[in-house]
Amino acid sequence: MARKLRILRASDLDGTLDMKDVLALMEQAFAERGLGRTEMPAKSYLHFPTHQGVLLIMPGNLPQMDEAAVKLISVHTRNPVEYNLPTLIATIVLISPDTGEPLCIMDGTYVTGMRTGAVSGVATKLLARKDSRVLGIVGAGFQGPFQLDAVRHSMIVETVLVTDLISERAEKVVGTARGYGLKARACETVEEVVRGCDVLVTATPSDRPIVRDEWVHDGMHINCVGTYAKGKQEIEAGILKRAVVVVDDWEQASHAGEINVPVSCGEFDRSGVYAELPEIAAGLKPGRTNENAITVFDTTGLAIQDVVTAWKAFQVAEQNNLGSVIDPLYL
Ligand SMILES: NC(=O)c1ccc[n+]([C@@H]2O[C@H](COP(=O)([O-])OP(=O)(O)OC[C@H]3O[C@@H](n4cnc5c(N)ncnc54)[C@H](O)[C@@H]3O)[C@@H](O)[C@H]2O)c1
Repeated sequence: MARKLRILRASDLDGTLDMKDVLALMEQAFAERGLGRTEMPAKSYLHFPTHQGVLLIMPGNLPQMDEAAVKLISVHTRNPVEYNLPTLIATIVLISPDTGEPLCIMDGTYVTGMRTGAVSGVATKLLARKDSRVLGIVGAGFQGPFQLDAVRHSMIVETVLVTDLISERAEKVVGTARGYGLKARACETVEEVVRGCDVLVTATPSDRPIVRDEWVHDGMHINCVGTYAKGKQEIEAGILKRAVVVVDDWEQASHAGEINVPVSCGEFDRSGVYAELPEIAAGLKPGRTNENAITVFDTTGLAIQDVVTAWKAFQVAEQNNLGSVIDPLYL
């Protein structure tokens, strides 16, 4: 029987998911990938140079979980100034694996925040020292609160240090952390955050390294979240050379992740990567084995992250009748 199509706008989705649920799903999705049981063709791109825009198409299929979806993200840098629109607009279409019907079209903003936070959480759980207590966040924009929420469920956080070029944003994340009952303070410099933390999240759109090698101490874990495109970089290449480096996916990371610039300069290559996170999640390789090692996780964002997070949001929406439903488009 034909199923209705659910439409979920951003306002229908905000706050619908529990980060603990998403963390569990994320670990499962990465394990599925490590076991070779996912289908995830490389991201495709459509370019609109006259409009300073690009569209990314990200398909993902997890047969064991019976979930498939395609995410479309446009990045149009003129949007805020010229059209009063966000730079990033994400839309996710959920496909029923059994019939191929589109079951849901949802705004992808909230899902992107939850899934990007959650993968940092999984990496922190698998790679950070168990006695880590201080979380540092560099870049407290949209991602900041999601990163905080995910990492606080993945290690014992006592203190949170936050910095951002815009101090109000750092203060806002500090307020959220205090609301969770954590000690938190805004820092004026990236150096203060890096030197003072055990686990660091970088979530800026920087195109030059802002974390210096000399600030990073033994035993630290770093989640590099912000670098998503060729030519961008948040941490100095020297850190990668003395760290245990884990990527979400070699192809994506070497082209667009934190390692892309060092790879293109010949300063870093695949032999410097210890593992892809899916291998560790699947138990094929151990996570942290040396308390003194610096670990770096380079995340570029995988379609499977969107698939499992969006399907969870869809299930919550079905249970609570969120958004609206329309007749199938194909009738
Ligand atoms: N890896 C992934 O899967 C993934 C997913 C989503 C977003 N991202 C990337 O993560 C980054 C952050 O995303 P967002 O949505 O939070 O962006 P955002 O623009 O909302 O926030 C970025 C913040 O970084 C701050 N910032 C910039 N340069 C800084 C510096 N030198 N020091 C301190 N703070 C600085 C800005 O003031 C801003 O508040 C972007 O580059 C985005 O493309 C990656």
